[in-house]
Amino acid sequence: MFPKDFTWGVASSAYQIEGKDASDGSGQNVWDAFVKQEGKIYGHHNGDVACDHIHRYKEDFALMQELGITSYRFSLDWAKILPDGVGRVNEKAIALYRDMIMEMKKRGITPYVTMFHWEFPLKLLEKEGWLNEESVEWFGEYAKVVAENFSDLAEYFITLNEPQCFIGLGHLKGSHAPGLTLDPKQVFQIAHNVLKAHGKAVLMLRKYAKQPIKIGYAPTCGVAYPFTESKEDIEAARTVYFDCNQPIDNWTWNVSWFSDPVFLGHYPEDGLEKFGPYLPEITREDMKLIHQPLDFMGQNIYNGYWIRQGKDGKPEYVDRAEDFPMTACGWPITPECLYWGPKFLYERYHLPIYITENGMACRDVVAEDGGIHDSDRIQFLNRYLSSLQRAVEEGVDVAGYFLWTFMDNFEWERGYSQRFGTVYVDFETQKRIPKDSAYWYKEVCRTNGAILNDKDGNIFCFRE
Ligand code: FCB
Repeated sequence: MFPKDFTWGVASSAYQIEGKDASDGSGQNVWDAFVKQEGKIYGHHNGDVACDHIHRYKEDFALMQELGITSYRFSLDWAKILPDGVGRVNEKAIALYRDMIMEMKKRGITPYVTMFHWEFPLKLLEKEGWLNEESVEWFGEYAKVVAENFSDLAEYFITLNEPQCFIGLGHLKGSHAPGLTLDPKQVFQIAHNVLKAHGKAVLMLRKYAKQPIKIGYAPTCGVAYPFTESKEDIEAARTVYFDCNQPIDNWTWNVSWFSDPVFLGHYPEDGLEKFGPYLPEITREDMKLIHQPLDFMGQNIYNGYWIRQGKDGKPEYVDRAEDFPMTACGWPITPECLYWGPKFLYERYHLPIYITENGMACRDVVAEDGGIHDSDRIQFLNRYLSSLQRAVEEGVDVAGYFLWTFMDNFEWERGYSQRFGTVYVDFETQKRIPKDSAYWYKEVCRTNGAILNDKDGNIFCFRE
């Protein structure tokens, strides 16, 4: 059973759904520039139109309401609000986002506002972006503007989405905006600045908030989970989930480096040792700034990998079979991660957890009868949520779950080739068609998870 006040919601981000309007006074963000680079994005796609949400949000929130959604996690585009990243405020963007929030509230939908889901202002990239230590102040200034303009309407705020991704893919691998391949030393400097910027934002949000607000953070990482439920395998999985054993050219896929400073006030010991030669100066004041009290922890969880204790007593990876189930974008289907992830995180950080994203890409097709019969997504969600329920029943404090995502959208370097939505979007006509999973999820929300089952394999379908 899920607790009575459990939050069921859906999640999205600005660049992935909003689209642009030449007259809206916005600045460019790093994705606007990145999508123009040759060979970076599937099919040369971009977010110029996306779901055209800035012109269709009224209908979109009406549809959300119809589909029983009562909480919505979305992001603000920093460059829309502050075209130069700092300084001049774009009042048109303030008006737009205020209207969006009022519209969702009118529909009985509680807003969860993410400040940064990767829409970094291009103007600030020209000043070295996150590598510049001033980025801490820039993000703080942005947080002040957010608090001043939206905290009368919204109570829940999330500072950063997936630092692992925008730092690792954006600044180390170069496959996400801004497409940089910096050396590890610079990337550790960036990560430290980003964590300080998070702390600064928390301070500014609280200082300028117009009502008591709740603040969280939404990192990610694959979940190390035990191959069997033996004590030894569980211990091995827990160790790997929080260790700093990643190779240096891929080091950002790490839980503890990004969460220990925020929730515990220090970097993990093994990381300090292993990454030592690459680290910037880290002061006591820095750690104090990063370690701000938070109301909840968010975690985006999509999948995991098996770990067991090897014969030598050390943790080891367990290979998956060739035909191991996968989603359309090749991510493994591992429902166990929604049990073990929250459990391990709660043991270590002791804060209420929101699953701030989870979901899957499917090869959805419109059937002859006009519907989208995505039973694979329903199966996936049913099993993942059943795992989450197990964690809840064993006492893990899970406060909510946000399904990624409400409607199909621009999936970063994969363009529009991957459909993660419970609502199908025809990108030619902008028509929205709820998939079977949208009706199923409506029932999950309505019954507070009572229709979930994992025992007899029956999955309810509530297509209207
Ligand atoms: C996450 C991102 C989100 C979306 C999903 C599929 O890493 O936060 O924007 O792309 O993956």
